[in-house]
Amino acid sequence: MKILQVNASARAEGANSTRLADAITARLKARHPDARIELLDLARNPHPAIDETALGALFTPAAERSPEQAARVALDDALIAQLQSADTVVIGVPMYNFGIPVQLKAWIDAIARAGVTFRYTADGPEGLVKGKKVYVALARGGVYRDTPADSQVPYLKSVLGFLGMTDVEFVYAEGLAMGAEAAARAFEQAHVQIEAL
Ligand SMILES: Cc1cc2nc3c(=O)[nH]c(=O)nc-3n(C[C@H](O)[C@H](O)[C@H](O)COP(=O)(O)O)c2cc1C
Repeated sequence: MKILQVNASARAEGANSTRLADAITARLKARHPDARIELLDLARNPHPAIDETALGALFTPAAERSPEQAARVALDDALIAQLQSADTVVIGVPMYNFGIPVQLKAWIDAIARAGVTFRYTADGPEGLVKGKKVYVALARGGVYRDTPADSQVPYLKSVLGFLGMTDVEFVYAEGLAMGAEAAARAFEQAHVQIEAL
């Protein structure tokens, strides 16, 4: 069994979302001691944003790509292969300005590849990244769970589901900017959720 942990915080050290993602991974490892853990730290290794160069490379047939274009596509290919080979995915996600960090969006833009991780059929889209369990650890300064201001959970459910990852569980640590007591309570509640995984 392989667990892929994706840390999406812009902070390589001291990130609350990483602390939660680490706790989830540790819990899974305790239950599956033979599990292999692979870490993708998007703070230390940010993926390039999708831009004109990247799109030009992706839309050029493989045999006609320049060495630069081939190298750009290879960066995305590596993330797709890493995801495909995982059985379980743990993603640590901070809320930044009501959305997901740009680092996580760049990862999603890399793994969403027509014909590889999703395809369109006569019946509509079909996700091709199947059979994975996904845990998402959410860290937030405020409290937005189950409110219209929470754009992260519906978005992540949609995009991961579109790619075939429909079994997604969310762990929340909210109110982290609302004082030490509130933050401690939020972590306690998150850890209760994690213990129950
Ligand atoms: C740039 C930035 C934007 C933020 N925007 C929000 C926000 O919109 N809503 C919120 O509840 N917290 C917001 N926060 C607080 C973070 O969600 C909170 O500090 C969280 O712990 C960050 O995760 P991390 O510690 O894993 O980096 C923001 C923090 C930063 C640094």
